[in-house]
Amino acid sequence: MYKLLARPLLFRLTSDYAHEIAIRTAKSFSNSPWILNTIGTLYSYSDPSLKQKIWGLEFKNPIGLAAGFDKNASITPIMEKVGFGFIEIGSVTALPSTGNPKPRSFRLPKDQSLVNRMGLNNDGAQTISRRTRKLTPGVPLGINIAKTHNPGILGDDAILDYKTSFDLVKDFADYITINISCPNTSEGKTFEDPEILNKLLETLEVNKDSSLPPVLVKLSVDLDDQQLEELLAVSESHNVSGYVATNTSSRRENLTTPQRKLDAIGRGGLSGKAIAKKSTGIIEKISELTKREKTIIGVGGISSAQDAIDKIRAGADLLQIYTALVYEGPGVVKRINRELTEYMKLKGLSHVYQIRSTMSQS
Ligand SMILES: Cc1cc2nc3c(=O)[nH]c(=O)nc-3n(C[C@H](O)[C@H](O)[C@H](O)COP(=O)(O)O)c2cc1C
Repeated sequence: MYKLLARPLLFRLTSDYAHEIAIRTAKSFSNSPWILNTIGTLYSYSDPSLKQKIWGLEFKNPIGLAAGFDKNASITPIMEKVGFGFIEIGSVTALPSTGNPKPRSFRLPKDQSLVNRMGLNNDGAQTISRRTRKLTPGVPLGINIAKTHNPGILGDDAILDYKTSFDLVKDFADYITINISCPNTSEGKTFEDPEILNKLLETLEVNKDSSLPPVLVKLSVDLDDQQLEELLAVSESHNVSGYVATNTSSRRENLTTPQRKLDAIGRGGLSGKAIAKKSTGIIEKISELTKREKTIIGVGGISSAQDAIDKIRAGADLLQIYTALVYEGPGVVKRINRELTEYMKLKGLSHVYQIRSTMSQS
């Protein structure tokens, strides 16, 4: 239905405008209990084999909404009805920001991928935390925080900026993701420096304050082995609860889109199919380095049950999608969950975490 009707119409518009329309429509739907119920009936899917309890939270299925789609917690009710097992809102920053000038998002249909340089546009931590407190989601709600997109906020002020958002959401978030890997703000990337990350996690008292919800670190897909090892060593020394792997890529690899088109688009984070393998590789490495003891949310190019299985086998406990929503539509959540269930039945597995041990069977 989406591919037949909505996608051809939306793809005639610029990616920025199509996204705006989608968000506006979703917002108006979120205010109508009747529409919400209808969408729930159409898209919901449940099976006991998909359920997991992680950090004491019930996840009805492993497919979550990745950060960036519901940046302002303005469409959370409808996203829940679309069938997501959990929702990550944000990135939220201490100060509101309109982000980068448009155009700032681009489709690469030949590669089922996107390039975006949104620039952390969001309503700011005060407004979003007030809005989020009023929500009563039936699924776990993660909040992703990042540094305000303003190159003038540097050093200790940058750390304080994160802390402002962190303090505003820590009382009600089911988990907090610290986004240190936004490719669209050069100053945000500095938190991928192990020393600066160490100071940040120290300031947030991640290891000391036992009242905090689980704190996760979101990593870039472009990290080499040494960078990844260093960042994990720091994160582990603060006993973080897990990792979100991965964010988008600044590189232009695994693409069939002509170079001319890529040059015309310019800089931005690449997401979707093109980063799927690399992100799975990072998950595998994190799983190995943390001896499979930490929760990993796998994200990057998932649009089918096979993509989900690849990431679970690599070590992911939970999964997230963004780009697949653009190419496949909201039905993709139900489809992946249904196909995962079918796969488990076929393999004689009774639970989604058992997929990890199907490594050699394929
Ligand atoms: C338009 C767009 C905006 C995004 N904004 C954010 C963001 O604000 N914070 C964040 O941590 N990740 C953001 N992401 C990254 C996604 O959460 C995800 O990590 C990445 O897109 C890979 O998943 P996918 O291939 O399923 O899209 C954004 C991605 C896209 C496409």
